[in-house]
Amino acid sequence: MDSRISVTVWGATGFTGGELLRVLAGHPNMELRGAVSRSSAGSPIGAAHPHLRHVFPETAFISAEQGFKTEADLAFLALPHRSSAAVAKKLLERGVKVVDLSADFRLKSASDYLRWYETEHPCPELLDEAVYGLPELHREEMRGARLISGVGCNAASAVFALLPVARAGLVEDVRIECRVGSSESGAHGGEGSGHPLRSRALRVVTPFVHRHMAELTQELGIPESVMTMGVTAVELVRGIQCVAHVRLNETLREADLWKLYRASWGGERFVSVTPAKPAHYRIPDPRFVLGSNRVMTGFALAGDCRRMSAASALDNLMKGAAGSAVQSANIIMGLDESAGLGMMPVYPA
Ligand SMILES: NC(=O)c1ccc[n+]([C@@H]2O[C@H](COP(=O)([O-])OP(=O)(O)OC[C@H]3O[C@@H](n4cnc5c(N)ncnc54)[C@H](OP(=O)(O)O)[C@@H]3O)[C@@H](O)[C@H]2O)c1
Repeated sequence: MDSRISVTVWGATGFTGGELLRVLAGHPNMELRGAVSRSSAGSPIGAAHPHLRHVFPETAFISAEQGFKTEADLAFLALPHRSSAAVAKKLLERGVKVVDLSADFRLKSASDYLRWYETEHPCPELLDEAVYGLPELHREEMRGARLISGVGCNAASAVFALLPVARAGLVEDVRIECRVGSSESGAHGGEGSGHPLRSRALRVVTPFVHRHMAELTQELGIPESVMTMGVTAVELVRGIQCVAHVRLNETLREADLWKLYRASWGGERFVSVTPAKPAHYRIPDPRFVLGSNRVMTGFALAGDCRRMSAASALDNLMKGAAGSAVQSANIIMGLDESAGLGMMPVYPA
């Protein structure tokens, strides 16, 4: 009998869907049973993901109808928000565990979802049981769960930057700046996503308010009234650099910050704290983590010891999406949390 965990991937033609397929191709305990696509059922996986042609030479995308009929232990949903919730509900009713990547189960409150996503939540009855999909925050709740939410990739980057000081209650106010690559908008990104317009852009997408702030209030307890968040599209395909400018509510020494960052991240296998030297690498660059499930964090304290920059760098398609999803899936299926996620960053890239 095959003891491997059988999985399906929905939205498999997209960027995060493709990244899930890449991770699954090297996963020792999971086996792909179906890659679901509305647009490409019947065509080979390699048609959408040429880099994976040799891994899945015989495998074609299947339709949603076939996807619901496929026997699987777990499904990854790499679908747009709103489409995901209804699929999740149907799969859960069939006894399939679900790890979603969309925004549908990130927020605990249906009214917050309505406010930030400007539409009624399609399945509010599932919100209570969904566990927010960052193992570093919710590892214990994940054991035994059957529904894991996605994480906003910008929100995740800010969580890794800020959690040590937020958890210690030190944030008086914060200005979060995320510099993001074009893959954040997905394979079918909207207007302005095509290469002639997006390449070499330095585009301020949101100067003050971003919907991922809702996740930060929920997960870090930072009130919206003391937070602004700007997202800038820069010349990257993958990667997010988050620099959060914090006004502290007490005076700290650099040694205090080292203690807080080490206490939060020291035991985490995918998270590291960047050394103070060389100074130009102290605020981490996403180039150092591309293609991996790693996050680098870092900080710098201003001379007045009341202001600091808290920073992180991650690959939005990995730790910001597919990597955290597989890490969470490993936990809910009782596997080693890092199974299939040992890939090293590609550098230079
Ligand atoms: N890109 C990122 O960095 C990132 C990071 C974190 C989370 N996420 C989340 O992950 C999810 C997928 O993002 P992505 O970047 O992979 O998007 P994407 O590249 O646009 O892929 C989404 C896929 O879903 C399918 N799809 C589109 N509309 C659909 C609909 N109405 N109903 C059912 N299927 C539909 C499409 O495949 P077919 O038409 O072939 O079915 C498409 O390839 C989103 O919810 C996003 O918010 C993305």
